[in-house]
Amino acid sequence: MSAKRKILVTSALPYANGQLHLGHLMEQIQTDIWVRFQKSMGNECMYVCADDTHGTAVMLRAEKEGKTAEAWIEQMNADHKADSKGFLIGHDNYYSTHSPENKALSELIYSRLKENGHIKVKTIRQLYDPEKEIFLADRFVKGTCPKCKSEDQYGDACEVCSATYEPNELINPKSAYTGATPVEKESEHFFFDLPQFQTMLQEWTRSGTLQDSVANKLAEWLGSGLQAWDISRDAPYFGFEIPGTTGKYFYVWLDAPIGYMASFQNLCDRTEGLEFDDYWAKDSDAELYHFIGKDIINFHALFWPATLTSAGFKTPDGVFAHGYITVNGEKMSKSRGTFIMAKTYLKHLNPEYLRYYYAAKLGSGVEDIDLNLEDFAQRVNTDLVNKFVNIASRCAGFVKKAGGTLSENIAEPALLNEVLAAKESITTFYEKREYSKAIREIMALVDRANEYIQAKAPWALAKEEGKDQEVLDICSMGIHLFRALTIYLGPVLPALNEKACQFLNVSSLTLVDLETTLTGHTINKFKPLLTRIEMTQIEALLAESKEDAVREGGKKAPEQPATKPNKQAAKASSKKETSSETIEFGDFAKVDLRIAKVIEADHVDGADKLLCLQLDVGNNETRQVFSGIKSHYQPEDLVGKNVILVYNLAPRKMRFGLSEGMVLAAGEGNDLWVMEGSADIPPGTKIS
Ligand code: 2FM
Ligand code: ZN
Repeated sequence: MSAKRKILVTSALPYANGQLHLGHLMEQIQTDIWVRFQKSMGNECMYVCADDTHGTAVMLRAEKEGKTAEAWIEQMNADHKADSKGFLIGHDNYYSTHSPENKALSELIYSRLKENGHIKVKTIRQLYDPEKEIFLADRFVKGTCPKCKSEDQYGDACEVCSATYEPNELINPKSAYTGATPVEKESEHFFFDLPQFQTMLQEWTRSGTLQDSVANKLAEWLGSGLQAWDISRDAPYFGFEIPGTTGKYFYVWLDAPIGYMASFQNLCDRTEGLEFDDYWAKDSDAELYHFIGKDIINFHALFWPATLTSAGFKTPDGVFAHGYITVNGEKMSKSRGTFIMAKTYLKHLNPEYLRYYYAAKLGSGVEDIDLNLEDFAQRVNTDLVNKFVNIASRCAGFVKKAGGTLSENIAEPALLNEVLAAKESITTFYEKREYSKAIREIMALVDRANEYIQAKAPWALAKEEGKDQEVLDICSMGIHLFRALTIYLGPVLPALNEKACQFLNVSSLTLVDLETTLTGHTINKFKPLLTRIEMTQIEALLAESKEDAVREGGKKAPEQPATKPNKQAAKASSKKETSSETIEFGDFAKVDLRIAKVIEADHVDGADKLLCLQLDVGNNETRQVFSGIKSHYQPEDLVGKNVILVYNLAPRKMRFGLSEGMVLAAGEGNDLWVMEGSADIPPGTKIS
């Protein structure tokens, strides 16, 4: 076996000014799968995280809640920990940036930057709210865009025309706190001299640490020249006061990534044999990886490696950026109930459903991913319940009946070897964060296992005399396959993995365990491992999410003001709103469209929008499809029409019966017209 790797992994520290939602969870799940995969391979891998507690936004939120900042962040920390745990995120440590370790490390790093001549002092003019007596971060000033004249724009960038500017360029600026007209005021600030790191960063960003698309973007920024980074903020501010100053604090983005180190330090202090320097020393052979969202790349791929270099620590070996999440194809929306809080999800649905769905969609790139709730339910039900868990449930009973001990022999060695041989490509996919590819390969093996059981039909053999050994051999083989597949899915489905340990009567199911087989081993009684998702659960989740939004006063999503230190970041963040998912031609080519003739159409009792269609789809086949086209048609108008059917859509069980495909229609909302094919084309003709 190759030597154990020592790996430290982080995901972005959530702000302590709001609850976790499904966007945060996508990142934590992506990270957790990778960490669990590394652990399953036998590597020493630690996952640390913390709350990002400092800054104006947290300070004001606490004020609004009538609490001290300390009391507020403590409550947030407990909430965030509980939510992450609910989604089976295996943090080795979840800490806080408002900690003695972080204070000490931030001060140490700052002193080194200073000693090395990397801190500069400059007097700057900034907008100031004379009523609240506070300097205004760009995002706390609103006014009319100087370029396109759109009203109500933030002080750093216009959401309408994407122009970036200084807050004092806004026309008619107002303080977002009080509505007062800001005045300009001078203040001394400390700057980290980033331009001194131009050459270092040019090399580092091209050293294979970043995704190609990210490295290319950074090359553009580096090409246009770096600016010194303002790392201080004036009181009132919730954070760490800068040593040797009064009323000057470290900017939240200085001490936030140091929070990764502080969380690890705290873990080391509690863990025998775990040494901080083994992971952070400049010459350390440990690996360091940060999982982050694409909006905070500049902090992690410019400021952070430069800071670490100046302070004499090792730089990250990988910064892995991901895209945003949309729900049903759109930005999460409070009014549609798709702004889903982690807590609310957990009240209605099993966390492993979401872990699986995210895994099935995630790749190594920065593309956004869509959580389509109908597809989510279908995919989980089909892949996990109908196919994967089914392997065990079809075989377990026969093994138990034969005494519970698996056969001494392997009935189909070639098939088991095929499944075991897939370890190489599956683990490569996990390692490269190509989870969707790993899942596709695992599911193909799940299909192979089911085909085997289906072909051998042990339930039929069991009725014949003298076939007991054969039945046991087949079902033992099914259990061996199930075990290997459970191991492959382990990083994604850790709770199921644990239940499977109980069922298989083993202490672990890791990738290392694949080196052994369970021939002659006695297993336990099978208990259901996973239940189906019902659409009613999803409807209840959306309804409760809408209520959450009303309770929150219909406010916009928690915003993160005061985090963008310069125009580079403003440019990066202004990209955030324009997401559109494209598909490859191969994806489109999978859709099998066919001409179908309506032979019968009926109203559906209890449904306002649906008609039930009986379709002739050629080759003597008839299909029933429920279609939401009632607003425009009497059933009899449709009979005889040629419509276009998505022929290979998985059948869907509806309250009214089974719908076997989908009829294409166009329009808005429920106002739909069917798309017609020429009456001359015979039913069953494929559309290409
Ligand atoms: O963007 C955010 O949500 C920040 N709170 C992430 C901080 S990550 C790290 F650098 F601390
Ligand atoms: Zn504008």
